[in-house]
Amino acid sequence: MPEKPAERTDRSAVRSLLRLWPYVRPVRVRLFTAAFVAILASCLSLVIPLVLKWMVDGPVADRDPGGVWLGALYLLLLGIAEALLFGFRRWLVARPLAGVEASMRADLYRRLQRLPVAFHDRWASGQLLSRGTTDLMLLRMFLAFPLTFLVVNTATILVGFVLLFAQDWTLGLVLLAPAVPLVILCSLFETKYSVVARRAQDQVGDLTTVVEESVLGIRIVKGFGRHRSQARAFTALSHRLRTTELGKARLLAGIWGLITSIPELAIGAALVLGTIQVADGSLSAGTLVAFLSTALALRWPVESIGFLLAMSQESATATDRYFEVMDVAEEPGAVTGREDAPATGPGMVFEGVEFRYPDADPDSPPVLAGIDLHIRPGETVALVGGTGSGKTTLTALVPRLHEVTGGRITLDGEDIATMERSHLRELVSVAFEEPTLFSATVGENVTMGAADADERQVRRALSVAQADFVHDLPRGLDTEVGEQGLSLSGGQRQRLALARAVVGEPRFLVLDDPLSALDVHTETLVEAALRRVLERTTAVVVAHRPSTVMLADRVALLSGGRIAAVGTHQELMRDNAEYAWLMSGAGDGGPERTERACEGTGAAGDAGRSPGDEDAGPPGRRPDDEEERGAERQVPAEEGSSR
Ligand SMILES: Nc1ncnc2c1ncn2[C@@H]1O[C@H](COP(=O)(O)OP(=O)(O)OP(=O)(O)O)[C@@H](O)[C@H]1O
Ligand SMILES: [Mg+2]
Repeated sequence: MPEKPAERTDRSAVRSLLRLWPYVRPVRVRLFTAAFVAILASCLSLVIPLVLKWMVDGPVADRDPGGVWLGALYLLLLGIAEALLFGFRRWLVARPLAGVEASMRADLYRRLQRLPVAFHDRWASGQLLSRGTTDLMLLRMFLAFPLTFLVVNTATILVGFVLLFAQDWTLGLVLLAPAVPLVILCSLFETKYSVVARRAQDQVGDLTTVVEESVLGIRIVKGFGRHRSQARAFTALSHRLRTTELGKARLLAGIWGLITSIPELAIGAALVLGTIQVADGSLSAGTLVAFLSTALALRWPVESIGFLLAMSQESATATDRYFEVMDVAEEPGAVTGREDAPATGPGMVFEGVEFRYPDADPDSPPVLAGIDLHIRPGETVALVGGTGSGKTTLTALVPRLHEVTGGRITLDGEDIATMERSHLRELVSVAFEEPTLFSATVGENVTMGAADADERQVRRALSVAQADFVHDLPRGLDTEVGEQGLSLSGGQRQRLALARAVVGEPRFLVLDDPLSALDVHTETLVEAALRRVLERTTAVVVAHRPSTVMLADRVALLSGGRIAAVGTHQELMRDNAEYAWLMSGAGDGGPERTERACEGTGAAGDAGRSPGDEDAGPPGRRPDDEEERGAERQVPAEEGSSR
């Protein structure tokens, strides 16, 4: 579930927004210049009442048309200057602020890549997406508009009041009177609004998650006829968001109403008082005109404060949401000072490894405890265990997708915790149960396993993985595979993932049931080729089926979070009831099937296959294969089907 910090009201919007400074710093000169230009432009508009005063008391009173035309010309020039200055301001900020947004987004993306897998297990992707899009857009808008105009409008209001007081201080006081209730109201509003704004932004995140999940899972949604219930879930969430947004609008409308009507009342009062004074002769008509038009010119700066504050509040929330991700600790780097532990031998060694998922119930037993296993250099060990026994978890510890919570893992005697992550990931290659591909070309997906791989290596990897179907694709290696590789079959995806794992000819190879989606024919071919790769690496291969187990020199049985037994397949079949049960299931075709697979392997390995043979093609193309497949998978594959 997404982490949502409790809705806090003690948060200071200013303190949140100040965190943006490092990003704004590079463009500060432009931003300050822009603010200065805007203040200048805004103050120009305050000169207009002074010109009016001069016109009313001078040319108008003297009935001098030439003077009136001159005044009109001044007013026109002032208007043009103001417009030009505001345009200049916009030009000043547009480009640098797009840059700020881009660099914040890039930082967020970089951070997301570096955050531990445990973080991604915990956070809904929609919450991350909405932070990278809506929240950042809000921040750019905030820097471009509300931030500047909060400053500009405050400055304008101050200058305006100085002018008002200079013209007539009693009328000035009348206008100033509403300031106190307004300030109180605004601060009350801010507190309330920040809570609703945060809620709305989180709900956008939840909504994004639902949309994303149902788009990615469209096959399941359709296949199970779940579109109605998905739509219901979506409607419920969007109703919730709508209610929140309405609450926001209500708050905003309330404050807006007060902010506009209270000053209006004050201006009305000043108008009445002023007119009486003009009638008394204690005030010139020109001064009253100037006073009132200054007051009217200040109306916009005062009124806009309400929604500027609202936007600032939302931006503060967006900043908080952004930094919630940025503040999460990255994957720990290399630990130093652990070299005191006695050195282990070469190969891959697990010593008393214990692991517990970070968000697991602290009272529950760890997923893995006291794992001791020594894989000798060049050796392949098959990891076998019931579903949920922790095989995937154990394999994820080797490339440090999760950190061990006890014990250590060494590669050629070196503790992986003390290795630079980049070095570790050069040493170890992985292929997981779920073959994840990216929306890129086939070639790019494969070379992801080793950026500097040349064409020969790619071709070799493809042939090891029996992925030569690639050459029959419309554009070969340059074919785009579509989002998550969904334009390929499950088995094709799995073979590409395998090619990616072996392309860099890694010293250590970790394969999590890499052949589960292949038909027996293709599986046999992959196994034959894989056997040659495994000869040269030290490997752990998670296996569910006897045929995969036969790739390994030894087998380790994972049970109850420990390595319950280690031995050859035959030894374990003989001595270990659980292993025999796992491998044979209801029938006992396991070992026999295995032997057959080996024979097949040998034959296929020697026969020099033609490309047509190598790709087993879609299931059903060979009826005999289909039969075999059905028989072979009956029991061991139960869990395969539950995946
Ligand atoms: N991200 C996670 N957070 C918390 N618990 C998890 C997480 N991933 C797996 N688990 C738990 O850890 C245990 C081991 O899961 P794991 O995926 O390692 O099993 P497995 O042996 O690979 O099973 P399978 O054969 O079905 O692939 C399970 O009980 C599972 O519920
Ligand atoms: Mg697994």
